[in-house]
Amino acid sequence: MSRDAAWTAFDRTAAEAGKTRIVDQFAADPDRLARMSVQAAGLYLDLSKQSWTKAAFDACLDLARACDVEGRRNALFAGEAVNLTEGRAVLHPALRATAGADFQALGEPVSAEVDAVRAEMKAYAEAVRSGAEAGATGKSFKAIVHVGIGGSDLGPRVVWDALRPLEPTIDLRFVANIDPRDMAEALTGLDPETTLVVVVSKTFTTQETLANAEAAKAWLAASLPAEGMTKHFIGVTAAPERAAAFGCGRTFAFRDWVGGRYSLWSAVSLSCAIALGWEVFEAMLAGAAQMDDHFVEAPLETNAPVLLALAQVFNVDGLNRPARTVAPYAHALRRLPSFLQQLEMESNGKRVHRDGTPVTRQTCPVVFGEPGTNGQHAFFQQIHQGPQVVPAEFVIVARTHEDAPESPLWSNALAQGQALMLGKTTEAARAEGLAQGLSEEEATRLAPHRTFTGDRPSTAIVMERVTPGALGALIALYEHKTFVEGVIWDINSFDQWGVELGKVLAKAILQDVQAGGPSPDLDPSTAALMTRLMG
Ligand code: F6P
Repeated sequence: MSRDAAWTAFDRTAAEAGKTRIVDQFAADPDRLARMSVQAAGLYLDLSKQSWTKAAFDACLDLARACDVEGRRNALFAGEAVNLTEGRAVLHPALRATAGADFQALGEPVSAEVDAVRAEMKAYAEAVRSGAEAGATGKSFKAIVHVGIGGSDLGPRVVWDALRPLEPTIDLRFVANIDPRDMAEALTGLDPETTLVVVVSKTFTTQETLANAEAAKAWLAASLPAEGMTKHFIGVTAAPERAAAFGCGRTFAFRDWVGGRYSLWSAVSLSCAIALGWEVFEAMLAGAAQMDDHFVEAPLETNAPVLLALAQVFNVDGLNRPARTVAPYAHALRRLPSFLQQLEMESNGKRVHRDGTPVTRQTCPVVFGEPGTNGQHAFFQQIHQGPQVVPAEFVIVARTHEDAPESPLWSNALAQGQALMLGKTTEAARAEGLAQGLSEEEATRLAPHRTFTGDRPSTAIVMERVTPGALGALIALYEHKTFVEGVIWDINSFDQWGVELGKVLAKAILQDVQAGGPSPDLDPSTAALMTRLMG
């Protein structure tokens, strides 16, 4: 089937699906749950509360076939230049493969180097933890300050917050914002003699990170002997020469075939590997590798990343739902929504196809979220009763805490999915009001306000516990899902030109400020804001 024919069938079945209520489809199709749920790398996904009918589900799979998802997936794993605007391979799976794998980037073997860097990281992490690698004055490190932004920050933050012990032997703090307040908060209470600063930047040119790294260096230099400084100042980058020139005593490298937002499997997570322990980091890699195997081996109709991607494409392009909320029902996963914002919106927020022609359909939706149940008490009102339908994704953990095996948390997630799907009719709302003792008139007046249209889609992703392996599998699931969407939309998911213009203009604005005020060619609004802010 051609792409065009597949999109036509997709549109036709989407229009039909829009007329059938989700809940009624379970009766119409007794195999619905079995067909639309899947297990992968220890995760269980239930996509049966999505709006698709069987015909629409099949049309989505046909679309995936017509877009050659399998061929493009194989090209990614084969290290071809899938990032074609930058002529780069995209090989984050190589970073989590078991030792001795044989990945190639643009025909060059890379796995031996991956293994070597991993061995270096392991030795260093263990030496820091044991105290063998100590600070300038011989004291063991008690804290790490991780400096980085975007992909050099969000992944390690998710990992640390998800897996950190309640009382870590080595504390880990993150600094991303160029606002000095961020660094000041991170450094509060820390002793330079026992603090390791890890500066993470793929390019080692990012303004915010370099400014923060300078501040951290100055903080260390104010207390430490100059000759010992380098023990406290470590770089992680794909540009090791820049890190060395900046004064990093030691540098852990990764390659340009690792995209920033796909980089947490590399030395970018060195701080986590130290603070959590090497076994934890390795177990996370193993979980992700399991998801890689599933993505490569499972047929499309039972392939978890593929089905998750198709649900999103169906909502966005089939039913015009340009937003999605993600609610992890586990405090440990509270950072997941911000991580996904970068992963999905920086990857797939694109306006042209791979050949440069403008897209004619929607691409990435707005992704936002909060942990459950916090979000329920904030923006879920709109999800239940707002006129726009916002698909929800619940990441549900059976046991969030060893001491609370029967957490009430997941029951809330189930209730939300049910409420969204079932809703409540005006008649039921009125009857409820009467049963609560309201007068006829009052029950009738309030009924519309208490009505839920229902028929709102959600997905459930379930894990037993937030273990390192489950976390690795979950993040890899989202990475591959993002890739599959990019294949279907025929866009390059691995560049991010959209962030460049703002960076260039920020420099020009700074120059104006340093020159004393707005340049004459500045637009009136920006010029007035500048004048006001300069005081
Ligand atoms: O500006 C966007 C971006 O380039 C992201 O893609 C990246 O993750 C982030 O900045 C940080 O970049 P770097 O790791 O090079 O400092």
